[in-house]
Amino acid sequence: MISICFATNNKNKLEEVRSKIGNQFTILSLEDIGCLEELPETQPTIEGNSEQKAQYVAQKYKVNCFADDTGLLVDALQGAPGVYSARYAGPNCLPEDNMIKLLDELKGIKNRNAHFKTCITLVLDGTQIQFEGSVSGSILEEKHGEKGFGYDPIFQPDSYTISFAEMSMAEKNIISHRALAVSKLAAHLQSL
Ligand code: IMP
Repeated sequence: MISICFATNNKNKLEEVRSKIGNQFTILSLEDIGCLEELPETQPTIEGNSEQKAQYVAQKYKVNCFADDTGLLVDALQGAPGVYSARYAGPNCLPEDNMIKLLDELKGIKNRNAHFKTCITLVLDGTQIQFEGSVSGSILEEKHGEKGFGYDPIFQPDSYTISFAEMSMAEKNIISHRALAVSKLAAHLQSL
């Protein structure tokens, strides 16, 4: 079976990907390949960061590899926080701080449209290909729900009346940006 490293140590992401493609490919974590260092993530775009991480691991550790990067893009803020979603309120800030800052920035603004975007970069036998998944929705006026992570309590996907944080993980995993990008990756790998 072909082994591919998913350049993450996030157990939830590994589980999701393994459930979609784990029967045909052995999906290794960074720990599995002995990569315990922090990956470089210094590019100004989501696509660039995803590429940077995948290429770094593929070249340094001589493995087939894919890496993901995600951001929340808010229309009224010209796409912010975007690539800076994890550290919107400052380095090492909490998701709570990020949500407070975003709600603050949007105070009094009617256009609450936003979308999550995930880019996955696959480097297989030295060839690079990217897959994108996105989900459109709006930023709520206040937090709703306790599930999920990151900006989930303030993001409501289009045609739903509940936030991501009010959905079960199974429900979110059908429509989420990451799930859509992973499905495209899975379809590609299965077609090889
Ligand atoms: P990452 O590239 O998957 O680490 O995501 C970067 C940042 O985007 C995270 O730290 C979160 O703040 C946010 N984010 C990514 N995916 C989600 C999601 O599914 N729900 C809420 N926030 C997310």
